[in-house]
Amino acid sequence: MTEKMQDPSLFSRASCCCLFSLLTLLATTHLAVSAKTMDIISLTCEKCSRESPVLNYTFCSVSLQAVPVSHFTNLQGLGIISMELALVNATTTISSIEKMVSNGSLDPFQLDCLRDCLVLYLDASKTLVDAIGAFMVGRYGVANMQVSAAMEAATTCEDGFEEREEVCPLTMENYDLFQLCDIARCIIRFLSLNIPS
Ligand SMILES: *[C@@H]1O[C@H](CO)[C@@H](O)[C@H](O)[C@H]1NC(C)=O
Ligand SMILES: *[C@@H]1O[C@H](CO)[C@@H](O)[C@H](O)[C@H]1NC(C)=O
Ligand SMILES: *[C@@H]1O[C@H](CO)[C@@H](O)[C@H](O)[C@H]1NC(C)=O
Repeated sequence: MTEKMQDPSLFSRASCCCLFSLLTLLATTHLAVSAKTMDIISLTCEKCSRESPVLNYTFCSVSLQAVPVSHFTNLQGLGIISMELALVNATTTISSIEKMVSNGSLDPFQLDCLRDCLVLYLDASKTLVDAIGAFMVGRYGVANMQVSAAMEAATTCEDGFEEREEVCPLTMENYDLFQLCDIARCIIRFLSLNIPS
């Protein structure tokens, strides 16, 4: 573990930017203690699930921990990993939709919904590629907008089924994409707050 990894200043600066310097100092000291005992994944997931009422802490830590390299990275690396996980998810979902559509055992309404979702997921995967590009050059505002758009694809796909009270055969996929994008958005927010003005 490098010193940089354990540096809690990304978090402390993000969350304490508006407080007095004494409070900032206290918070930094407190975070420095917890950073020793919690790795960056737990710390990030805990902060993000506290900020976002829809973000599932367990999902966040399980997903990020599945990528071994994420244990040896910083917040920036974790941001890229979360977007790449979302991209892999979207891409895998695209091929499952294509399989389902070609199966022929679905009713016409489900087929319609799946075709709509396919378009949404194709867009989302392109948008996520762009988001990763924007993120890597530090254009956090753009990355945030694009990740939010990909997140909306999951919601729109799900809503298409709910409108007709049909069971969405993509509920799990929509949930996964939504959660992964929410993690990415949270990390982007921390990083953009950290930009020296
Ligand atoms: C949170 O995520 C875990 C792991 O993915 C899952 O088992 C659990 O059901 C989720 N909790 C909620 C409230 O969705
Ligand atoms: C989507 O990502 C989640 C969390 O990383 C993973 O558990 C799930 O298997 C992935 N699903 C697909 C279809 O890739
Ligand atoms: C089509 O879907 C049905 C029901 O989900 C499944 O049992 C069957 O194996 C699928 N067929 C193909 C060719 O994928």
